[in-house]
Amino acid sequence: MAEIRHAVMEDIPGLLLIYNEIIANSTAVYQDEPLSLDNRQAWFAARQQAGFPVLVAMDAGRVVGFSSFGEYRAFHGYRFTVEHSVHIAPDYRGRGLGGALLAGLLPLATSLGKHAMLGVIDADNAASIALHAKHGFVQVAHMPQVGFKFGRWLDAVFMQRLL
Ligand SMILES: CC(C)(COP(=O)(O)OP(=O)(O)OC[C@H]1O[C@@H](n2cnc3c(N)ncnc32)[C@H](O)[C@@H]1OP(=O)(O)O)[C@@H](O)C(=O)NCCC(=O)NCCS
Repeated sequence: MAEIRHAVMEDIPGLLLIYNEIIANSTAVYQDEPLSLDNRQAWFAARQQAGFPVLVAMDAGRVVGFSSFGEYRAFHGYRFTVEHSVHIAPDYRGRGLGGALLAGLLPLATSLGKHAMLGVIDADNAASIALHAKHGFVQVAHMPQVGFKFGRWLDAVFMQRLL
């Protein structure tokens, strides 16, 4: 069974593999081009510097999933709200890891004094919507056609949990 722990810089190439597979093959992330290792290393360094967590699920020395949260919006009044994400490698989905990585973020957000956690999810992503509902998130917004990928408009939903 996979182990959940805080990420270190050496995990970032494995994390990037998962992220770029999702970018290439799904609408879960509204991004068309693969991201570079430099980009994800800078992202990780920024998360660490801001005191925000990045969790990884590890199996047999391989990164098989990750989750994180960061600032929702830069305005000071939003400082008690965070936006999170969770992604699992294709061959490790449906084994409870997404749930474990999402649940792992909640006490970390609470201990940082956060009050609200938000996920922005493609409206067609039934797996992620069900995962979030199972973990106490409720849909608070449905935003039509705010994304565009694979030649079509995409609706996003916001799912929120108060901590
Ligand atoms: C969405 C995702 C994070 C779920 O993680 P996972 O490890 O596969 O999910 P889990 O095994 O922890 O499942 C937890 C719950 O999620 C829901 N769920 C997971 N996969 C599902 C599916 N294919 N269809 C419907 N519900 C699903 C179920 O409610 C499940 O609970 P149950 O097993 O008691 O029925 C994962 O499939 C993934 O990374 N997908 C691609 C990227 C992505 O969509 N990321 C989220 C962006 S918002």
